[in-house]
Amino acid sequence: MISLVFLLAFTTITGEASLAPADQIFQYIDAHQHEYVQRLREWVAIESDSSNLLKRQDLIEMIHLAEERIKYLGGTVELAELGVQELHNGTTPRLPPVILAELKKDPKKHTVCFYGHLDVQPARLEDGWASEPYNLTEKDGSLYGRGTSDDKGQILAVLNAVEALQQYELPVNVKFLLEAMEEVGSPGLLKLVEERNSTFFSDVDYIVITDSSWISNKPSITYGTRGNSYFLIEVECAKKDLHSGTFGGIVPEATSDLIYLLSTLVDSSGHILIPGIYDAVAPLTEKEKKLYEKIEWDFKKLKDTFGIRNFTYSTKEELLMRKSRYPSLSIHGIEGAFSAPGTKTVIPARVIGKFSIRLVPHMDRSVVKKQVMDHLNKKFAERNSPNHMEITNVQASKPWLSDTDEPLYLAGRKAIEKVFHTEADLTRIGGTIPIVSHFQDVTGKSIMLLGIGGPDDAPHGQNEKINRYNFIEGTKLYAAFLQELAST
Ligand SMILES: *[C@@H]1O[C@H](CO)[C@@H](O)[C@H](O)[C@H]1NC(C)=O
Ligand SMILES: *[C@@H]1O[C@H](CO)[C@@H](O)[C@H](O)[C@H]1NC(C)=O
Ligand SMILES: *[C@@H]1O[C@H](CO)[C@@H](O)[C@H](O)[C@H]1NC(C)=O
Ligand SMILES: *[C@@H]1O[C@H](CO)[C@@H](O)[C@H](O)[C@H]1NC(C)=O
Ligand SMILES: [Zn+2]
Repeated sequence: MISLVFLLAFTTITGEASLAPADQIFQYIDAHQHEYVQRLREWVAIESDSSNLLKRQDLIEMIHLAEERIKYLGGTVELAELGVQELHNGTTPRLPPVILAELKKDPKKHTVCFYGHLDVQPARLEDGWASEPYNLTEKDGSLYGRGTSDDKGQILAVLNAVEALQQYELPVNVKFLLEAMEEVGSPGLLKLVEERNSTFFSDVDYIVITDSSWISNKPSITYGTRGNSYFLIEVECAKKDLHSGTFGGIVPEATSDLIYLLSTLVDSSGHILIPGIYDAVAPLTEKEKKLYEKIEWDFKKLKDTFGIRNFTYSTKEELLMRKSRYPSLSIHGIEGAFSAPGTKTVIPARVIGKFSIRLVPHMDRSVVKKQVMDHLNKKFAERNSPNHMEITNVQASKPWLSDTDEPLYLAGRKAIEKVFHTEADLTRIGGTIPIVSHFQDVTGKSIMLLGIGGPDDAPHGQNEKINRYNFIEGTKLYAAFLQELAST
């Protein structure tokens, strides 16, 4: 038995010609790890912080660096201009261009388009980083640096996978849509997708978003996101702030009205109290229920990490469903209310309460808006207040859900099994990625989120990192995925 194993291992090392191509590609990737990390170091070194107007040149530099890499791989790159950004104060800085790239064009092969972003969240050593955020630092198997996980490392992994496959044959046509303004809401991008639907996207079969992370150390594929509908409730009781010594007791106060209204929205178990809000939620199927049982998720650790007193439910399955397949309502803040330390005795004249509802299939944004308005108007009328109350629905993005049995998903699942020797966790995320539902609506293509970030990468926080393991095995995952996709 032992000698047989030995013999097989020996053949693997010496008998290159008899190896399956996937193994050769994986070996190539392992052998080029150092270069991949070096590239990531170069990318991380560019402070492409899209929230800082002073860094616009860095965004452009980052775009050019990615352009160079794609061209090196033999791709063609168009830098699509998006025009200017409209800031609140009237300034209109130029937006960085978007990369629309294409590698190889064989009409007989499928075409997959990868979307990712090259900009990052702000980061400074003083924020509590253990090492310079823009100087890639490896420690205990993790590569620390802003953008390592979100999202430079993930894009590079795809590009490195393409390079490894090119040593043999690129099994599908690959396109890239890479932007540098994702962290500030992708201004101009949606319009570009619409404009290019009948050109750049016309021959695209699949869209893969490489900007997501696993919820455990087990690889996962994301097939759904929640939408979000954001509301403001404004209550005004006077034209000027009042003193409680002079006016307390003779004025029905705006803040009391607002807090009363906010208190009618959700109960202590997270159940939304707005009539009809759950009516459209898709019923839970047996098949879907089974998915939650399989998912690995350490919610107890999450509870400890954030010092959460208690969750609303006690089982993993119920908590996963509550945070991804059911709606939730969160109260975010009150503008105009006294919030500084100390004991000021003001009666605010005008306050604005802010809350949002995470939407799930098949909740309709306009129906939700009406339900919220009707509920709050009724409650306010019951209170019999003379104050002015106004509700605004400031923004609403749709939920997105895909079918995990589509060919794109089957290819992703097979690739995960090949590289990690485990079944993929199929997850839905509770957050909102507006570009996903927009891609879906405009292009009508099959879309999947296949990311390689780990559960504790701290994408927007201090000490962001990606594990070397995720980066390298993730590169293999993308390579295996492209091969699997060729046979769909
Ligand atoms: C406008 O706002 C931006 C972003 O907050 C700021 O960087 C810029 O200096 C402002 N411009 C002017 C003219 O105030
Ligand atoms: C990055 O960090 C390493 C190790 O601390 C240091 O030697 C190097 O000079 C730093 N590079 C830059 C560009 O700051
Ligand atoms: C985008 O193009 C596809 C064909 O590739 C078409 O089916 C779809 O209707 C188009 N979308 C819009 C919004 O025109
Ligand atoms: C925490 O919440 C769960 C689910 O609601 C409940 O069963 C449990 O008793 C709670 N534990 C404590 C300590 O409050
Ligand atoms: Zn991201």
